[in-house]
Amino acid sequence: MKHPGIVILTGAGISAESGIQTFRGDGGLWEGHRVEDVATPEGFARDPELVQKFYNERRAKLLSGIAPNAGHEALARLQKEYSGKITLVTQNIDDLHERAGSENVLHMHGELLKARCLDCGEVSEIREQITAQSPCRLCDTKGRLRPDIVWFGEMPYFLSEIESSLENASLFIAVGTSGKVYPAAGFVEIAKYAGATTIEVNLEKTDGSHVFHRCEFGPAGKTLPRLVSQILTDPTALS
Ligand code: APR
Repeated sequence: MKHPGIVILTGAGISAESGIQTFRGDGGLWEGHRVEDVATPEGFARDPELVQKFYNERRAKLLSGIAPNAGHEALARLQKEYSGKITLVTQNIDDLHERAGSENVLHMHGELLKARCLDCGEVSEIREQITAQSPCRLCDTKGRLRPDIVWFGEMPYFLSEIESSLENASLFIAVGTSGKVYPAAGFVEIAKYAGATTIEVNLEKTDGSHVFHRCEFGPAGKTLPRLVSQILTDPTALS
């Protein structure tokens, strides 16, 4: 039996139970900052110190006491035990999928634990603070590192790979995303047009819920272990 291809898209909601704030809820991540100031290339050009501080604080928090939850673990189990192709796409910049054991995670909005040199383009792993003195590991230029994060107005990563997986998927699952930011918000339409069954996993109804074939409302840490067991027991039942 051929097992159908699955594409999973995760958003901030999957990391909420690990203690990372979502973007658009009460007390969201942007609280106290305008998105234009901390998540655009123009904001970075205007006040690099503020932007570095914003991401330095988030990097430090990610590395102190935050751990993956049952939702991340369920998806890692699916990747290990499922015999068809799984494409795991995340809008999240944390590394909780990897820490739960997932591999080949497509971080379409970049990663908090990576820095990019504005001079030579080198992307390197970074766990410490980025300062005006931080050198690029390749060209050694100081003060030209920025967080390797896709800001508003910039092109998300892996788009052609993601689109081709969506066009060949039989099942698409969106987890913990409000569906307010494109192009990720449009993935459900691409998958549906290609004939995939589409499932939304979210705490509550979103603006895009009506587009999905099925919605599972509740915390991802509870819903995903159940959904993953269902898929592993009978992968064709959901297609
Ligand atoms: N389980 C499932 N869903 C949850 C949970 C939970 N425990 N907690 C919250 N949610 C849902 C919320 O209901 C909401 O729909 O997660 C969603 C989070 O939405 P956003 O905060 O808008 O995050 P996301 O969709 O990932 O944002 C997309 O926007 O700001 C940019 O680049 C940033 O990657 C981000 C993108």
